[in-house]
Amino acid sequence: MKSLDSTEFRNALGQFATGVTVITSVDEQGSPVGVTASSFNSVSLDPPLVLWSLAKNSGSLPAFQQSGHFCVHVLASTHEALSQRFASRGSDKFSGLDWQPGLGSSPLLPDFAAQFQCKTTYQYEGGDHVIFVGEVHEYETRDEQPLVFHKGRYATAKEKGRGEPAGDAVDIATGKFSDNFFLYLLSRAHFQASHDLNRELQEEQLSSSQYLSLTLMGLVGDMSFQDLHSHLDHTGDAPQFSDIQRMLDRGLVTETSDGVRFSLTVRGRSLYVRLLALSKATEKRLLAEFSDEEVADVRSFLQRFIAASDQGAPSLWKQGN
Ligand SMILES: Cc1cc2nc3c(=O)[nH]c(=O)nc-3n(C[C@H](O)[C@H](O)[C@H](O)COP(=O)(O)O)c2cc1C
Repeated sequence: MKSLDSTEFRNALGQFATGVTVITSVDEQGSPVGVTASSFNSVSLDPPLVLWSLAKNSGSLPAFQQSGHFCVHVLASTHEALSQRFASRGSDKFSGLDWQPGLGSSPLLPDFAAQFQCKTTYQYEGGDHVIFVGEVHEYETRDEQPLVFHKGRYATAKEKGRGEPAGDAVDIATGKFSDNFFLYLLSRAHFQASHDLNRELQEEQLSSSQYLSLTLMGLVGDMSFQDLHSHLDHTGDAPQFSDIQRMLDRGLVTETSDGVRFSLTVRGRSLYVRLLALSKATEKRLLAEFSDEEVADVRSFLQRFIAASDQGAPSLWKQGN
């Protein structure tokens, strides 16, 4: 047989994208053991069999060989830290985890996209690995995006060709549109994400023109009425002079000495900072539901979408733009 370059061989195998699992069991003393494994695979539906392989130099090998049971946790895209934890060597992999004993005392972890509790039915020699085959006795699935491992890196899975082709979500003849209508999705997302801020604006009795003017002055600094108006014209919420008058009356803005521009007072700035903190907290809360990759993808898509649909609106934070 041709001798293999081990790095090249690994790289070639790395082209095969897999999921990531954490597989658990117990050792002779009843202590929990667990390893991260991407070698998991389905074998048979009837009887329900799965397999995976463990390196012979793994510290957990004796436990898996003797316990007679194992539990497979298929990880979700948000479980990268869990994968790293069980890919390390050591005995404290379970510290701080809220696990429960399952079939054959194998630890059941709280986080998974799918979980398979198995009885070990076969063990095979596999070179420098041992192949374990297990019969699935219980399983559970959750609606989660899977964690993927490809070319030695974590990745997320994207379904191909999902959804209706662009344009098909709206039917002019019937006047109906489906919830794949992109502009509907965009405005509904905006509407829902603005809920906390809108409630606060109502409480502060600040109209959206006044809020936008406050934000713009917070970002840019002193501005004339004409500046404010031309910067905000594209939003459909440019301020009227009565808006600025109301902000003057409430002590949120003051006239500068040149008599032409307006600046935020201490009170106005503190309201601006408070509303900004609220928006930041809303963003943090809403984005906590999604992985960093999902957020990065949507951000970059929105940036490109904004560039493509731009009709010359000024950048809010660049004066004179
Ligand atoms: C994504 C990923 C997949 C892995 N898949 C396997 C695998 O299928 N089999 C294996 O023996 N080791 C695999 N490992 C390495 C083990 O998780 C690692 O060697 C672990 O430290 C073994 O723990 P132990 O020595 O405490 O038993 C993988 C590691 C990562 C990060």
